[in-house]
Amino acid sequence: MDRATARAELLRGLQLAHAGELGAIRAYLGHRLAVKRPAERNAITEILKDEIRHRRCVGRMLAEAGAAPDPRAEKKLDRVGRLIACVCRIGGWFIPMYGAARLENDNIVEYEIAARLAWFAGFEAWIPELLEMAEVEWDHEQTLRTLAARHWLWKLAPKWTPPPPRASIREQFDNWTRDPVAVERQRFRLVR
Ligand SMILES: [Fe+2]
Ligand SMILES: [Fe+2]
Repeated sequence: MDRATARAELLRGLQLAHAGELGAIRAYLGHRLAVKRPAERNAITEILKDEIRHRRCVGRMLAEAGAAPDPRAEKKLDRVGRLIACVCRIGGWFIPMYGAARLENDNIVEYEIAARLAWFAGFEAWIPELLEMAEVEWDHEQTLRTLAARHWLWKLAPKWTPPPPRASIREQFDNWTRDPVAVERQRFRLVR
């Protein structure tokens, strides 16, 4: 993959991540209001703080590259987040918890892809932060999946493959950088 293509794909991915984090913030604000138990409310507050930090971090990266958030994507994900927040208020306990865990599972991969594109595009300085954000999304998936799995509806709901161990995020990244061809092949497998 050439540097210019990687840069363009990376910046597009960061624009989508920036908007996605806004959607997550809106959704978790609604979700936090919908849960009653203090331990669950605290867990969602911590996740919410992480998403705010992620959005700032991605926004800073875009600015460093001379790019900016995409207003259309921001508007769209803002609406999606608000809609999810409404669903949280009326959707009972299980659906918001299950849905959030499932979305977090995709967020892990999103930052793993961004780290690989950063490697191709010459933004090596961003890699530790991008991998750390993937790890934090891993934490979110685990927290929410563990909570959702306590509900009786969990047995009936379709499952996704849980992500590989947290440590594999960095291990896999290091392996890929040793074999750029495999990196590229893997990347295309990751992109849905
Ligand atoms: Fe996030
Ligand atoms: Fe998250």
